[in-house]
Order: sequence, then C-alpha cells, then structure tokens
Amino acid sequence: MKGTGSARAWCVAALATALCAAPPAWSQDYGDTPYVQTPQHVVDKMLEIAKVGPRDYVIDLGSGDGRMIITAAKKYGARGFGVDLDKRLVVLSNKLAAKAGVGKRAVFYARDLHETDVSPATVLTLYLLPEVNLMVRPKLLATLKPGTRIVSHDYDMGDWPPDLALVLDAPDKPVGRDFKSKVFYWVVPGKASGKWRWQLAIDGKVEIFELTLNQNFQKISGTLTMGGRNLKIEDAKLTGERIDLVATGASGGEALRYQFSGRIINHAIDGDARIVRKQGALQLAWNASRTELIEPAHAALKAPPMPLLQ
Ligand SMILES: C[S@@+](CC[C@H](N)C(=O)[O-])C[C@H]1O[C@@H](n2cnc3c(N)ncnc32)[C@H](O)[C@@H]1O
Repeated sequence: MKGTGSARAWCVAALATALCAAPPAWSQDYGDTPYVQTPQHVVDKMLEIAKVGPRDYVIDLGSGDGRMIITAAKKYGARGFGVDLDKRLVVLSNKLAAKAGVGKRAVFYARDLHETDVSPATVLTLYLLPEVNLMVRPKLLATLKPGTRIVSHDYDMGDWPPDLALVLDAPDKPVGRDFKSKVFYWVVPGKASGKWRWQLAIDGKVEIFELTLNQNFQKISGTLTMGGRNLKIEDAKLTGERIDLVATGASGGEALRYQFSGRIINHAIDGDARIVRKQGALQLAWNASRTELIEPAHAALKAPPMPLLQ
C-alpha cells in the first residue's frame, strides 16, 4: 500500500489530523489503513443499526481514538476491545475510556488486526480501506459466530451483499468531497447449504420432505420435494442461524402453503412447520437433519493477495 493513490489521497485529505499527517512508517505498509476518525454521529448510527446492547461484545479493528468501543460501552452498556497498530492511539484510547468511566469495559491493545482473534465478538466494526475489508473477510466468515453483526464505515465487502446499506450526511468528515458517510451492515450467515430431510405427519399420513440448499453468503436457494413431488420455494431466508422457508404445492387439487422457521444447530434444524390450507392451519414441529454437506459457494473464495510493497 505504501505510496498508493488511495491511501495517500486519504492521508493528504486528513492533514488536519496530526496523527495522519505524520504516520509511523509501518502504518502505510501491507495494505493497512491510515488514521481517520468516524464522525461521532456516524459512530452512533453504526451502533444503533447493529442494535448494540449490554449483552454485546464489540470489537473494532483499527480502533483509532477508541470512539466506537467507548461509545458502545458508555451509551449502550456493552463491553469490548479495539486494536490499533499505532501505540499512541492505543494509549490515548485507554485514557479516554477511563475518563468516560468505562475503562473496565472498553479496552485497547496495540495489536495487528490481522492477528487479532475476533471470535468473541457479537458485533464487529470496521473503518478500513476496501482492500483491507476484502483481506479480512475470509477470516470474519470463518471465525465469527453465525449471527454476529458487522458494521463498516464507507466500504463494503465486495461481492458479499450487505443486509443493509445507507448514506448519512457527514458535514464534519475530514476526508472525501461529498461530505457523506456510507454505512454497511451484515449478519454473519450460518451454514445452511446441503441436503436436508425431515418427515411430518399430516392428517395421519407421514410425508417425507427433501430439501437441497445452495448458499452464497446469506443467499440461499434450492429445491424441495414432498413424497418425491416438487414444491415451489417461494421464499428462502437465512439470518445468522435462523432459516425461514415458504413453499407452495397442490395436494388433492388444493393449493397448500408450507411455512418452515427454525434454527440451524450443526447438522440439525429445530423449529416450527405451519401448513396453511382451506380447513385451517396445521402447526407442527420441524426437525430436519442434514444428510449431506455442500460447501457454501463463498467458502471457495480466498483473500486477495497482500498488495506488494513499492
Ligand atoms: C480509518 S481509521 C479508523 C479509526 C476508528 N475505527 C474510527 O472509526 O474512528 C483506521 C485505523 O486502523 C489502524 N490500522 C491500520 N492498519 C492496522 C492494522 N494492521 N492493525 C491494527 N490497526 C490498524 C490505523 O492506525 C487507524 O487508526
């Protein structure tokens, strides 16, 4: 990254920030991100979108002056930590946390974000360069628990579509020309892909359901049969470990609607099935087993190589 246009332009634009004006030599190497603060109202919005609360553990990768974790602790009662390569920022963040009265719940370490264990996070925040987001993405998908919320300031995650994206006015933003901040939000998906099987006793008759699901990030699609006959999947949603399926099909000349909602726990789904028909809805337990694992398409994607030093 050293001397690349984007990082230099960003630092030049952020000259007002003394720390960025004189970055330590290593902060520009290996694709790392210069120091620019997220405006406080954008911090507030990011934490609000992630619905941060007292039970959350928030990790900020590249924590700058610590505002994300300090706000999460002070305003929302969360705990967490930030890591930054710049030791001066880490000292400053720990001081600001103590001053805000949250020194025990908001802690900062001088550590490389690429070598940070992110697995305790329930919420992970980022304000990094786009290529750094792509570099950390495989690790986030592999290590974060399904259901963990990720919020990124300004940059997306390439072809991992966000669950939510918005643009905020940011009149006091030290970089960029449009005085806007983009915010992207994702929920880490569980592993839903594979072949699933379950049975339901419908009006005394045991029906066998077979579902084949393909997955790319949180997007799922596939085929569903009941007793070997195709049902039409109308909607399929994966949110963390939660899976919701709606399918339709005809039985005895009647159009039926099948709704399944449950939680994926390893190779099982535990939830509810609802069959909507003329004589009323039938509510049953939904217990499915995975009979074959199919790797999600995104699992094959590797991190882009580290940019070469120039
Ligand atoms: C754009 S600033 C964001 C600061 C803060 N998260 C915020 O939103 O206000 C990026 C921060 O990442 C830090 N950083 C860059 N590369 C890093 C790395 N490899 N490990 C840890 N921190 C890094 C920089 O020192 C800088 O403070």
